[in-house]
Amino acid sequence: MTRKKIVAGNWKMNGSLESNEQLLKGVFAGIESENSLVIVAPPFAYLSQVSAMVKGAQVSLAAQNSSQYASGAYTGETSLGMLKDLGVEYVLVGHSERRTHYGETDGIVAEKTKAIIESGLIPILCIGETLEERQSEQTLLVCAKQINAVLSEVGISNFEKVVVAYEPVWAIGTGLSATAQQAQDVHEFVRKHIATQDSEIAKKVQILYGGSVKASNSEELFAMPDIDGALVGGASLIVEEFVGIIKSAG
Ligand code: G3P
Repeated sequence: MTRKKIVAGNWKMNGSLESNEQLLKGVFAGIESENSLVIVAPPFAYLSQVSAMVKGAQVSLAAQNSSQYASGAYTGETSLGMLKDLGVEYVLVGHSERRTHYGETDGIVAEKTKAIIESGLIPILCIGETLEERQSEQTLLVCAKQINAVLSEVGISNFEKVVVAYEPVWAIGTGLSATAQQAQDVHEFVRKHIATQDSEIAKKVQILYGGSVKASNSEELFAMPDIDGALVGGASLIVEEFVGIIKSAG
């Protein structure tokens, strides 16, 4: 089964009006005829600017987070309706930095994923283990638990609308990527785990790898049968790196 490759850039809390424009102009110039789906996820503050710039380009827009509520007394929050107004198509959910710094539990992640699906947007569901969990051989257990929390909330038929991003926490921002085989092993497990509920949906679900992806390691990662692309942090802020990763996706 051939699944379209996705290369998504998570800008995290970085950028400025000026640097965003320079970055995107460089990316647009570098990716004229690529086949993969390119997504950028700027901070909320820059969604309007980036939305206007990606219109007509081969780049889709993602938000890095969203509220699970439609409206109301939630100071500082942003609803999915507001994101849709800005042309957002994808929403990151369950990123380890939100789980760690903002107390997002498996339950909250599942609630948000359901709300994203119900809004018509596409969730990019981040899962992954900490260094301690890997060292104590709990990687697959942790990933299964994170996937199960969402499966039980949204159901297997809705899970077809979910893009999964496996991001080992110990590889995020460290420059120490998982090896292509380490990543493939977890991706293969995740796909087989989903297949226990529906083998056809499992074949279709796109599973991205994230954690110190660079132009120098992306080709080897993308060659793996169950790696359908990348969720890129730091390297997505550097034109040459991000374009190199996109080109290696074919
Ligand atoms: O969401 C992607 C991010 O967590 C990966 O960060 O800098 O290791 O590519 P980085």
